[in-house]
Amino acid sequence: MELPRAGLLSDLDLEAVVDDTYRYVETYRGHGRQASYIPALEKVDPNKLAIAVVLGDGRTALAGDAEEPFSIQSISKVFTLSLVLDRVGAILWNRVGREPSGSPFNSIVQLEAEKGKPRNPLINAGAIVVSDQLIGADTADAAIAELVSFLRVRAEDASIAIDDGVAMSESQAGALNRSLAHFVAAFGNLDNPVEEVLSVYFRQCAIAMSCRQLARASLYLAFDGVDPITGETVTTPDHCRRILSLMLTCGHYDNSGDFAFRIGLPGKSGVGGGILTIAPGVGAIAVWSPGLNQAGTSLAGAVALERMVEATGWSVFA
Ligand code: DON
Repeated sequence: MELPRAGLLSDLDLEAVVDDTYRYVETYRGHGRQASYIPALEKVDPNKLAIAVVLGDGRTALAGDAEEPFSIQSISKVFTLSLVLDRVGAILWNRVGREPSGSPFNSIVQLEAEKGKPRNPLINAGAIVVSDQLIGADTADAAIAELVSFLRVRAEDASIAIDDGVAMSESQAGALNRSLAHFVAAFGNLDNPVEEVLSVYFRQCAIAMSCRQLARASLYLAFDGVDPITGETVTTPDHCRRILSLMLTCGHYDNSGDFAFRIGLPGKSGVGGGILTIAPGVGAIAVWSPGLNQAGTSLAGAVALERMVEATGWSVFA
């Protein structure tokens, strides 16, 4: 695939852009509120701050705590969706929609009116349906092993693992997610038992990755499903396009419009404070700062991305 703005990209001083972004966003370090409903996440140092950019030609620039693993939380929903789309294809859309919810990530209200079919795969209820499909006819342990192995291969880093303490904390604080899963199951939209499905869901959210690993692992999404460094086809161009459109319209829940307005890139946030964004044809950017805005998106992370797209013109609407 031709890199758009290839001339500009080869001239770009990536290190300088990342350094400038980091210096700019440092004044926001510690702003926002950490997720407290999962007790293990509240213990993370609120002053952590990280940026990683990986481009299609492999150029990588890092700043701050970019090598430190953190809880990827809902960013995991992008990767489970990618695996499940490749496994079941368009039939997935019989079980989960592809409309923005305009509601918080853990909202239950639409599920009743819409008969247990979640609005999209990036809200909790939708991701629970996707986790069920990832299990398929196999076991929860096999499903989570498939996901972790996928991430290790994509990131070229075998050290990626689940943080068991976070997974346990999620499960102990998981009354609302249990309610969502039971609600979906009541409408016949889960093939596997609720606790099996949740054991995948809680563990996928508890995967720990650094910004560098996240950006590297998702690079295929910037290049029509092909990893530009290894040349491997990871998913189809069609699936890649669908994933990016869902990230753009639904990746930040009731904050998705504001994120598209300010940053203009397909992105996915997690309540661990990470945000993954994809610049199609260019590369992947991951940021991390644990303080969140009201919708559960990293406050300083979004400011960093805003600064970076202004400097580079990488917004898809530029
Ligand atoms: O299920 C939950 O509530 C969390 N494990 C994930 C939520 C999340 O990351 C929402 N993202 N901004």
